[in-house]
Amino acid sequence: MPCDQLLSNPWVIPTISIDFFSSAARRTRIEIRGAGTNSTLFSARPIQYALLRLGFTWLAIQYRNWKQEDLEAWTQTRRREKICRYGFGAGGYESETAAGGRTGMRILITGACGFVGSALAESLLERVEGIRVTGVDNLMRPGAETNRARLQRLGVQFVHVDLRAASDFAALPAFDWVIDAAANPSVLAGLSGAGSSRRLFEHNLAALGNVLEFCAERRAGLLLLSSSRVYSISALAGIPLRVQDQAFGLDPSDPLPAGLSTHGIGADFSTAQPVSLYGATKLASEVMAMEYGSAFEFPVWVTRCGVLTGAGQFGTPDQGIFAFWVNAHLRRHPLRYIGFNGMGHQARDAFHPRDLAALLVAQMNTPRSNGQRVYTAGGGPANTMSLAQLTAWCDERFGLHTPDIDLRSRPYDVPWVVMDSRNAIKDFNWRVETSLPVVLDELARHAENHPNWLDVSGV
Ligand SMILES: NC(=O)c1ccc[n+]([C@@H]2O[C@H](COP(=O)([O-])OP(=O)(O)OC[C@H]3O[C@@H](n4cnc5c(N)ncnc54)[C@H](O)[C@@H]3O)[C@@H](O)[C@H]2O)c1
Repeated sequence: MPCDQLLSNPWVIPTISIDFFSSAARRTRIEIRGAGTNSTLFSARPIQYALLRLGFTWLAIQYRNWKQEDLEAWTQTRRREKICRYGFGAGGYESETAAGGRTGMRILITGACGFVGSALAESLLERVEGIRVTGVDNLMRPGAETNRARLQRLGVQFVHVDLRAASDFAALPAFDWVIDAAANPSVLAGLSGAGSSRRLFEHNLAALGNVLEFCAERRAGLLLLSSSRVYSISALAGIPLRVQDQAFGLDPSDPLPAGLSTHGIGADFSTAQPVSLYGATKLASEVMAMEYGSAFEFPVWVTRCGVLTGAGQFGTPDQGIFAFWVNAHLRRHPLRYIGFNGMGHQARDAFHPRDLAALLVAQMNTPRSNGQRVYTAGGGPANTMSLAQLTAWCDERFGLHTPDIDLRSRPYDVPWVVMDSRNAIKDFNWRVETSLPVVLDELARHAENHPNWLDVSGV
């Protein structure tokens, strides 16, 4: 029977059999015939047959793996859709243990030994029941080491990770959310000496690339802490101001630029360059985070924070100014009013990271598949202070200590930054609960109890 007839005969194909025969070892062949017929379907030497079997087995394994990956990819897509639509956390997704039991939200905080990261860890543990917090840090910030033991006491699992090294992420388990609080946060970063701009780029931007890959791979949402420093220096310098009570404040007699109101600077304020090297790394981080979130379907929230301050902040003249000023004033360390006629009228709003934690929790619990993702948050006009006013507050608390006057201007310095939090208030029912005087009181008590805090901070 010809082979094509044999194959089209439904009764023959299911009954094929393997028939071995041999006459001499060299001529041994394996034949497969249709049962009840003499037609040969397949004939080969044993070695050829073995190779073919090997080939088919390999193809079968590839096909099975491919089907498996396909199924997993489909499951992941469904899960991502669910996450984007419903959000995570107490109001939405809960993680499941391998055993199938329900557990709390799993959070990874980068820069966990920094001021903001460690304060967020503490506050999240207080606010969210069953939450499990893991913190990573490379301990590069002077003082960061002091928070390591504190985190461990709080029950935060600490892992030494340098975010610049992709291989450092390998040992980390999966998380529901990553809070990115690791960076060199100084507006003067990158300007001091050979290699410093490259280091800034690597710590603030290249490292974020690894965080984003991690989020995409492990399907974690991202909360990115951005900064008021993403705004245009020239636009900030051009804000119409007048001096009142020893502080710059908005001059309502002049028209205000787009994105600015008497409530402060909103998300629409100009981000035209220059914004400082630090600000540029933050602005670029925002763009990359939003893009990754959209491409790989994980939720991203960006919060442009005004100055964050509180007890335990590491303070230097160019970063953590409230902590530096209070500690330096208490110890009669030299203070300077730099630029702006040396009067100390430059003003900032400030808030505590535990209030930021409340906003982040609200974001994690907010289901949203599209709409606003970038928010501004800060102490607002009610929690704003100039350096001269801060000095007066310190004079009252610690006795008189007068800053020197330095008329030279500092790169990227701006006279007034106050954040407009109205969208965060409206969308997340959020508000600043700890007023600036309360935060300053905590700062002062911490300074009094830690006589070497300026040394710890690397001043
Ligand atoms: N402090 C503020 O006023 C303020 C305002 C707006 C935004 N932010 C943002 O908040 C975040 C935290 O700021 P902060 O004040 O806590 O600063 P911080 O310097 O106290 O903390 C940053 C931490 O990140 C760690 N870190 C830096 N690079 C790292 C890397 N490559 N790998 C691992 N760890 C690394 C440091 O060791 C440090 O512990 C930053 O992203 C900053 O831009 C801060």
